[in-house]
Amino acid sequence: MPHDDSAAAAARRRSVLTWGALSIGLLLVTSAQFEQPARAASDPAQSAATAELPSGSDGALIRYGRSLITDTRKFAGSYITADMSCSACHISGGTVPHGGSLLGTYARFPQWNSRAKRFITLQDRLAECFLYSMNGRPPPYTSREMIAMVAYIAFLSKGAPVGSGFPGQDFVTVVAAKPGNAAAGAKIYATQCSACHGADGSGDHGAFPPLWGAKSFNDGAGMNTKMARFVKANMPLGRGGTLSDQEAVDVSAFVLSHARPHFDRNRTIAFPDHRAGFF
Ligand code: HEC
Ligand code: HEC
Repeated sequence: MPHDDSAAAAARRRSVLTWGALSIGLLLVTSAQFEQPARAASDPAQSAATAELPSGSDGALIRYGRSLITDTRKFAGSYITADMSCSACHISGGTVPHGGSLLGTYARFPQWNSRAKRFITLQDRLAECFLYSMNGRPPPYTSREMIAMVAYIAFLSKGAPVGSGFPGQDFVTVVAAKPGNAAAGAKIYATQCSACHGADGSGDHGAFPPLWGAKSFNDGAGMNTKMARFVKANMPLGRGGTLSDQEAVDVSAFVLSHARPHFDRNRTIAFPDHRAGFF
């Protein structure tokens, strides 16, 4: 093989360089093209939160389930006594991470429940929020209301691994050096909360949910132990994350120092019987 003359070698080097540059360029273009979908797919919870509702009868059922959760007073008013909707605590219909997210929830049931000391289904969990958070009674499990809410939550859980749901959806963790101080919390409440929730905590029917009093959640609700974790990430509304952990704990101690309805665990709940032909 004769030696290449220098002109030919230079030309070959040029072409190698050109191809090299071109393929690197191509690689960049290709990876840039694939980066977008790859990033979206890496957050399946967000995809579930923004997915378009299907049309047809299943879409109608899911839409009804969403309405029940975002406007509970209108669509399930006879089941509740609290003056709020599920979305008072499950913000924007349960589509906000750390805001009472319902994304992936369908895939987390059945689960062990330490309050009930047994394994519960998703319907049982919905029933709990009706009993405690809404201070009401649950719709029958076979009712269109219950089935619609389950359908909506299943829709928000598409792509979630069964057994675990989507990660990172729970309330944030709050670490405060001192236990909640209601007196310190009162000051925070007056400047940061009362404009919306009212100086007397009763909210503003329709716009702002009550934080204590006869129309609030009862003393069995999860908010009694989890309020600081909810407040830290979500309140004051639109300025979540601005309170320190200690402030979130103090203001929650103040809110929870007021009277609220008592949960009577001995009362009976009537689920209507169905004839066998129902199935
Ligand atoms: C006063 C606040 C409040 C209201 C109102 C409320 N909930 Fe909840 N809900 C909670 C809290 C607190 C939890 C526990 C969240 C946690 O531990 O991360 C919860 C949990 C749930 C869960 C389980 C979520 C999961 O992924 O494990 C479901 C389902 C649920 N609620 C449905 C409802 C429905 C349906 C309504 C209306 C009928 C409702 N909630 C009203 C506070 C509320
Ligand atoms: C700008 C108005 C506004 C301010 C200020 C505000 N909230 Fe809220 N809060 C809301 C709304 C509205 C909801 C219901 C969630 C929704 O609709 O997005 C809510 C929900 C809540 C809930 C759960 C529902 C309930 O009734 O128990 C708690 C607890 C809460 N807020 C506490 C606070 C605390 C504590 C502060 C002050 C640090 C505060 N909020 C400041 C508007 C506000």
